[in-house]
Amino acid sequence: MRVLVTWGSKRGGTEGIGRILGEALEAHGFEVVAAPADRAGNPDRFDAVVVGGALYANRWSAVARRFVSLHADQLRRMPVWLFSSGPLDDSADRGSIPAAPQVEVLAERIGAQGHVTFGGRLAPDAKGFPASAMAKKTSGDWRNPERIRAWAAELAAALPSAKPGQPARHPARSVPRLLAYAAMGWALCGAMMATLPHVVGLAAALVVHAIAAPLIFTALAIRYFRALGARDPLPTAVAWTATVASLDLVVIAGAAQRSLDMFRSVPGTWLPFALIFLATWATGEIMWMLPSPEQRRNKA
Ligand SMILES: Cc1cc2nc3c(=O)[nH]c(=O)nc-3n(C[C@H](O)[C@H](O)[C@H](O)COP(=O)(O)O)c2cc1C
Repeated sequence: MRVLVTWGSKRGGTEGIGRILGEALEAHGFEVVAAPADRAGNPDRFDAVVVGGALYANRWSAVARRFVSLHADQLRRMPVWLFSSGPLDDSADRGSIPAAPQVEVLAERIGAQGHVTFGGRLAPDAKGFPASAMAKKTSGDWRNPERIRAWAAELAAALPSAKPGQPARHPARSVPRLLAYAAMGWALCGAMMATLPHVVGLAAALVVHAIAAPLIFTALAIRYFRALGARDPLPTAVAWTATVASLDLVVIAGAAQRSLDMFRSVPGTWLPFALIFLATWATGEIMWMLPSPEQRRNKA
């Protein structure tokens, strides 16, 4: 059986875990390729895959995320296990730590067989901010080779009879839901601009609109990202801003005003677009960093 062990690692700690897993699976008689996720290539020539990601601010490294998203169709057709690394203390050895919300969604989307969190590693001389500041307080190697090998033994026992899992469809991820939120935000902003100028004058209305538009989209983003399975913050911010711009172009400029003059106004049009984009993106990033209800329960 051919098994791919792959990982997204910024500072080598997760890579070390991947390599221990690879060697252990090889010792159990499997044909193993161990490689970083950005060099692993297409997984469809393997019978099973193990993907690991380093956790940064409760999110998997982008390389691991991208690997799973890019190859989701192939990964759904084979048994896949995921692992995360990890806490810079002994918490991973004291009990099982649930996957971060984003990793949980990835696991469900491909029907992963299971997920485990291993302790992590941060060198005392780690470079870059905020890692260097963090290393002053919490450096150390909390990876536990014994536990990693024990998990490899569990996989080795399960692999010969393992079947692809049952992927879950996340309604929160749907395109209609994504666009409905953008359209709702656009309609609220539009309603404001349809009424406010008559009440406070155009100049004041533009100021209120430039302040209110990002607030409206922040509120919508909190609701949107709270649902498990929502799309990633950056593509969501792009999709919402593009939807708002398209609706402005077709409905306001095209049908109502029959002129593109509104696109000449920086404070009236381009500033709100930029603020809507930033508010959505930032809110999404913050929501992704927050622990899931399960993680909060575990910590309590
Ligand atoms: C800035 C920063 C943020 C981190 N955030 C988390 C986190 O949210 N959860 C966690 O378990 N570990 C966290 N860690 C610890 C790393 O996940 C750990 O050092 C990991 O082993 C790094 O893997 P790598 O060496 O493969 O990049 C963080 C480390 C740094 C430097």
